[in-house]
Amino acid sequence: MPLQPSTIPLLPDLGGKIALVTGGSRGIGADTCLALARNGVKVAVNGRDEARIRATVEAIRAIDGEAMAARADCSRLPDIDAMRDRIHDEWGVPDFIVAFAGGGTERPMPFAQITEQDWRSSIDNNLTSTFLTVKSFLPAMIERGSGGIVSMASAGGRVAAGAPAGYGAAKAGVIMLTRHLANEVGKHGIRANCISPSAILTERTRQNIPGEQEQRMLAAFPLGRLGRPDDVAAATLFLLSSASAWITGVTLDVAGGRVMS
Ligand SMILES: NC(=O)c1ccc[n+]([C@@H]2O[C@H](COP(=O)([O-])OP(=O)(O)OC[C@H]3O[C@@H](n4cnc5c(N)ncnc54)[C@H](OP(=O)(O)O)[C@@H]3O)[C@@H](O)[C@H]2O)c1
Repeated sequence: MPLQPSTIPLLPDLGGKIALVTGGSRGIGADTCLALARNGVKVAVNGRDEARIRATVEAIRAIDGEAMAARADCSRLPDIDAMRDRIHDEWGVPDFIVAFAGGGTERPMPFAQITEQDWRSSIDNNLTSTFLTVKSFLPAMIERGSGGIVSMASAGGRVAAGAPAGYGAAKAGVIMLTRHLANEVGKHGIRANCISPSAILTERTRQNIPGEQEQRMLAAFPLGRLGRPDDVAAATLFLLSSASAWITGVTLDVAGGRVMS
């Protein structure tokens, strides 16, 4: 469901900035694109599916926001480099990289049943895609001397339950990648933080969580509901804005209390 304007925090320092959102074509990423656009951020919407990307771009334009389509498979560096060159040419160096592309098989699966292909696909789509995206955009951000990066982990990378080992390992890798990055780029005026959600209801996850299962799941969430894409969008706005100027290298669990650390 698209964000209701009243649920979106407004952070004036974000206005006029440029963001790339990988995985912005649907789900959590699409709502995050809209939340950024409502804050006056120009948004490059990434994904692989042209029609989905176009739908998000049109939704942003419908609220008088600025958006461009930025198709690329983020597990392939030549694709990302070509996307980066298009964004640099049209708008300049992004202020923000929101690296949300990922997903895959998130349902628990016995270790022995995970195929080599499952494993490689989880690592490629979640960990390698984050690494390659940052690798491609970082040099120009360092040269400019400012920027904000938000990466996407998962409760599956925080606790050893509720997700297959490959997906959990990939997301735990994203957390450590983000810490290394934060440690290295702080001196260049760049902050890097990670968001780690649990059970966010999107078009896709709704198909896997029927109503009665949702009721059973609630016991694990002290806040008594499952998550919404705008919960993640709001946390992302905070981590990109100067409201979090003294925060880098953290993993923010957007998880209704299911994960506390
Ligand atoms: N929903 C949850 O409960 C939950 C919980 C924890 C973490 N997460 C993480 O949050 C992120 C978004 O999840 P979601 O539930 O919103 O999933 P979703 O609806 O399946 O959306 C996934 C997005 O990632 C993009 N994507 C995937 N692989 C890509 C690649 N190689 N290159 C470019 N784009 C790629 C997809 O683009 P196309 O379809 O256009 O290819 C799509 O925009 C994922 O990283 C997921 O692991 C989700």
